Amino acid sequence: MKNILITGGAGFIGSHVVRLFLNSYPNYNIINLDLLTYAGNLENLKDIQNYDNYTFIKEDICNLDLMKTIFEKHQIDGVIHLAAESHVDRSILDPFSFAKTNIIGTLSLLQAAKEFWKDDFKNKLFYHVSTDEVYGTLSDSGYFTEKTSYDPHSPYSASKASSDHFVRSFYDTYGLPITISNCSNNYGSHQFPEKLIPLFINNICNNKKLPVYGEGNNVRDWLFVEDHAKAIDVIFHKGRIGETYNIGGFNEWKNIDLIKLIIKTVDKHLGRSEGTSNELITYVKDRAGHDYRYAIDSSKLNSELGWKPSLQFEEGIEKTVTWYLENKAWVENITSGSYQEYYAEMYEK
Ligand code: NAD
Ligand code: TYD
Repeated sequence: MKNILITGGAGFIGSHVVRLFLNSYPNYNIINLDLLTYAGNLENLKDIQNYDNYTFIKEDICNLDLMKTIFEKHQIDGVIHLAAESHVDRSILDPFSFAKTNIIGTLSLLQAAKEFWKDDFKNKLFYHVSTDEVYGTLSDSGYFTEKTSYDPHSPYSASKASSDHFVRSFYDTYGLPITISNCSNNYGSHQFPEKLIPLFINNICNNKKLPVYGEGNNVRDWLFVEDHAKAIDVIFHKGRIGETYNIGGFNEWKNIDLIKLIIKTVDKHLGRSEGTSNELITYVKDRAGHDYRYAIDSSKLNSELGWKPSLQFEEGIEKTVTWYLENKAWVENITSGSYQEYYAEMYEK
């Protein structure tokens, strides 16, 4: 395959995938298509923007006619689809934009791929990047496997579940070659500071309250973003057509324990004595429909394709905190403007 369309490549995970592919596969043309919503930022890709085999297109995946034109113009052989509205809290405030981007946008890309490839699917692939949140919530035991039934609870996860179903329907109905992966919570550099880890790092630095939903007992399974990008690389090249692969770190943390680890790490970097910022912890009203626990069983990906996470969590958190402290201008740039309105609506009403 030569011409790879990566959607959402200016976002958090997408930018790591674009960088990994450009550095690993100089013989590929990488076309990054991203609308540059509040979450997309070309600064994430400054280091690779001048590569000869890199093209950026600012466009909306919901525009079917344009998607068809782009497939034709760039002779697309493979798609790695990451573009999405991705934040659960925003989906609670505005579910329609999630339905539009995540469902209609995915459908537009599927249709454009199907029409351009004209049933000649040899050496073609539509790889859809999804989330473990489609599986719903777990009690204190058990894991999500690839066979777990879908049971989404938030408008975000409902829209991602729907997009997964559309992707599978194009395989079952038209034979479009697809793969899907469902990954657990990611963390690392370049994540928009509305998500738990970068939000709390930023708030600790600015001595702002740390809004813990409910009692802080919810559990998430955290994976370093560069390990997710490597898993995407492996699945894209070696995954079996029509299959789903779960991706996760076997790394579960109760929110409040994770928050204390972040506080400890940031306080250390700022030269504050241990635990100083614990006083910023503020328990607030729980998120509506808050899933209790996510935990991914990624043993299929490990046994079939040999992928496993490379980093210990403490090391990953250390790297992440260091990145945010060294890139305060990046944070300040993207948290000015409309983010302020979101923050006020979400946390200060
Ligand atoms: P993100 O919000 O950081 O980035 C999303 C990107 O999509 C942005 O660059 C944005 O500009 C772009 N985009 C949004 N609407 C678009 C549209 N209509 N047309 C074109 N581009 C558009 O998200 P992320 O955290 O990097 O997540 C990427 C993908 O991975 C998503 O599909 C998400 O569901 C999935 N995922 C995320 C996580 C996680 O922990 N962040 C975990 C598992 C799966
Ligand atoms: P988040 O990063 O939004 O990811 P997701 O909801 O997709 O798992 O949130 C991670 C966990 O942290 C989740 O249980 C909600 C909780 N949380 C808070 O307690 N306070 C916050 O301000 C945010 C953003 C999240």
